[in-house]
Amino acid sequence: LARGGLEADLAGRHVVVSAGGTREPLDPVRFIGNRSSGLQGYALARTAVARGARVTVVAANVALPDPAGADVVAVGTAEEMRKAVLEAAGSADAVVMAAAVADFRPADYRESKIKKSETAGPAPIELVRNPDILAELGRIRRPGQVIVGFAAETDDVLANGRDKLARKGCDLLVVNQVGPDLTFGRPDNAAVVLAADGASVQVPRGPKEALADVVWDQVAARLG
Ligand code: CTP
Ligand code: CA
Repeated sequence: LARGGLEADLAGRHVVVSAGGTREPLDPVRFIGNRSSGLQGYALARTAVARGARVTVVAANVALPDPAGADVVAVGTAEEMRKAVLEAAGSADAVVMAAAVADFRPADYRESKIKKSETAGPAPIELVRNPDILAELGRIRRPGQVIVGFAAETDDVLANGRDKLARKGCDLLVVNQVGPDLTFGRPDNAAVVLAADGASVQVPRGPKEALADVVWDQVAARLG
């Protein structure tokens, strides 16, 4: 039950973690996607299992072995992720949105492969907004349910993070700085965990499991 001195402080809890990055298809062979590997989401899943939780992982396009002891629901697009996350969230004590969800998707899906001979020059791709899953979770949450977001920011990382935390109505927002060779596809991460009550925890660069454990510490404290 115990691991590295940690107690099973999530025993009896159900947590949902989204991981990876959504892909928004243009045609049967092309998509708009992002660089999320799923490493941070899977580290969250593994550490939650180790702390005694029942864990549901909603995984978008993750090429990693399933985290042992977790239920994995595989999805592709943001719409599919929304459906799976909302369904799992119904019975969840906490939901952590570690996935990179595409903000936009192509307005049209073409059943047949788009051919370059179709148009004189490259045709523009029209995009429409995807649903904001985290904001929806913030709106429909049950009393006592803890909602956690992730944000990769550039420029004024902390100010952007505080704004986003308020906008999304979540309890915690894990903010990391992105840039060349930072975060994506790497086993380590550095971040600041911002809380809606004004608190913040600085997490030095280290394994994604270490950041995951800080997130669960913060979640467990709020579950009471
Ligand atoms: N998120 C979500 N649904 C979306 C977009 C984002 O649930 N359609 C979640 C992500 O999983 C993450 C958090 O919201 O936990 C922040 O994502 P981010 O892309 O940083 O936020 P956005 O509101 O999309 O803002 P930005 O314009 O900076 O991309
Ligand atoms: Ca976004």
